[in-house]
Amino acid sequence: MPKVLVVYASMTGNTEEMAEAIAAGAAEAGVEVVSKEAFDASAAELLEYDGIIIGAYTWGDGELPDEFIDFYEGMNGLDLTGKKAAVFGSGDTSYPIYCGAVDTIEVKLRELGAEIVAESMKFEYNPSNEELEQGKNVGRQVAGLAAVAG
Ligand SMILES: Cc1cc2nc3c(=O)[nH]c(=O)nc-3n(C[C@H](O)[C@H](O)[C@H](O)COP(=O)(O)O)c2cc1C
Repeated sequence: MPKVLVVYASMTGNTEEMAEAIAAGAAEAGVEVVSKEAFDASAAELLEYDGIIIGAYTWGDGELPDEFIDFYEGMNGLDLTGKKAAVFGSGDTSYPIYCGAVDTIEVKLRELGAEIVAESMKFEYNPSNEELEQGKNVGRQVAGLAAVAG
């Protein structure tokens, strides 16, 4: 069965809320879905999945959260060619670099050969119902494409 991984970092729950919607959408597509926090995951696990959906809130001056750094650095050198991917994360528009972590992760995934199949989702604080619906759709989309590829 094709497999989709949702891996995320969330301090106050906003990014996690979106992770849950995305995982629910992916499950509707009839694939195996695993959802976990970045500190419980190792980057090498990405190789076991056909679809990978990564989320992180933004910290500092547009930076990745501390608890996501090990996972991010572990991605170096992985060959993610053929993987269907998407990125999401919460932020706050009052900071100069809005949702910078989302951009950083997207760049890394492309560098490693993954195919970004949906526009990266940036949302302020907690996702609205509309944004959650959009997240579900992204989950379905990644899972549907992963099922064809896997
Ligand atoms: C110290 C600090 C620095 C932050 N820096 C940024 C930033 O540079 N850019 C941004 O978009 N949001 C920034 N944020 C806002 C968080 O990303 C935002 O509160 C987000 O909703 C947290 O998501 P979470 O609930 O998944 O942890 C910062 C928040 C704190 C507390």
